[in-house]
Amino acid sequence: MGTITVGAVRERAPGERRVALVPEAVTRLGQAGLDVLIEAGAGAGAWFADADYTAAGASVVSAGELCRRADAVLCVGPPDEETAGALRSGQTLIGLLAPLRHPGRVHDWAEHGVTAVSLDLLPRTLSRAQSMDALTSQASVAGYKAVLLAADSYDRFLPMLTTAAGTSKPAAVLVLGAGVAGLQAIATARRLGAVVSAYDVRPASRGEVESLGARFLDLSAVSSGAGTGGYARELTEREQLAQQEALDAHIARSDIVITTAQVPGRKPPLLVTAQALERMRPGSVVVDMAASELGGNVELSKPDKTAVLYSGVTVIGAGNLPSAMATAASTAYARNIGALLTHLVRDGALTIDLADEIQAGVVITHNGQIVNPALSGGPS
Ligand code: NAI
Repeated sequence: MGTITVGAVRERAPGERRVALVPEAVTRLGQAGLDVLIEAGAGAGAWFADADYTAAGASVVSAGELCRRADAVLCVGPPDEETAGALRSGQTLIGLLAPLRHPGRVHDWAEHGVTAVSLDLLPRTLSRAQSMDALTSQASVAGYKAVLLAADSYDRFLPMLTTAAGTSKPAAVLVLGAGVAGLQAIATARRLGAVVSAYDVRPASRGEVESLGARFLDLSAVSSGAGTGGYARELTEREQLAQQEALDAHIARSDIVITTAQVPGRKPPLLVTAQALERMRPGSVVVDMAASELGGNVELSKPDKTAVLYSGVTVIGAGNLPSAMATAASTAYARNIGALLTHLVRDGALTIDLADEIQAGVVITHNGQIVNPALSGGPS
């Protein structure tokens, strides 16, 4: 077989600063025998110049040339229509393609014979898949950044500080949802010296929360919300109400609340109601990492918007937090992509093998078909 050529395109989604490959990843792929293309300007948002990629051994090319030459086109988010339209039969597209949200695009990729590989469907509990886990790497960046955003809007210190001008009390930080992002938020807030408590519906998260030096909230009103695959299940309406009520007093006592709760394929659960916000002290800060157009964990939050409520509480609806830390996020993402590519290369060629557990998870279209059972409900 000839040499495999992979190419990273420039992200075109508004506000997206990440890039699928960083120069150090180009070097590694080169050492593994791959040819690497990079679209001109692709790394600029993450502070990588075209010259950095060239020095690492990549060829800087136009989008058109990249789509013509690459065996695998690499991206962060799903490509725009123009890029997607330039993909050809037999070509592989790899990224966080959000196929569950865009069934129409999945259908198009299948129709055009594109092999679409989506990292957001990676079987995450397989230990050999961990190096490819882009959801984890990006959620971790986001959890860190969320704490910095909160700290920046909070007009007091997070740590206890003793100075000649007196002693400040440490901030009380509450993290709701202790998955990947929540655990990183807990660790970051602890490093800044805050007193942290946390809550998750999955009882298994208690040990992880406590090992980071945070207190796990016991909400006796709420039974286990553990679902399948290590994720949470959606709570019933009654359970949700009981949870909101039980959380209210804890929220009122907190200076900073960071929410990260998600249930795969569902609207994020509402954890912080308007009444709970009203009970918080003026100057408190809430960051909703689940903020979306469909609603988030915090009533009134909007993605990418900061609002100061009349009661003096700042509500920050997080947007694309990994993009706000584009260099770290891209570096981690490029490692994930590199690990996946290494996994796909067999005998010098990109090889699709749906009998492989990792590939059965991430490959969504191949040979003109939608091949992933998670998408079988999509249009045919
Ligand atoms: P996620 O982004 O889907 O959700 C974030 C958190 O919100 C989860 O911990 C979830 O339990 C929690 N949550 C959902 N509804 C809630 C509610 N009503 N109240 C409070 N919390 C609520 O999850 P993420 O961070 O992507 O990870 C989910 C799971 O996957 C975790 O168990 C994690 O340990 C596991 N995982 C395992 C890996 C491995 O074994 N290598 C790698 C990555 C994740």
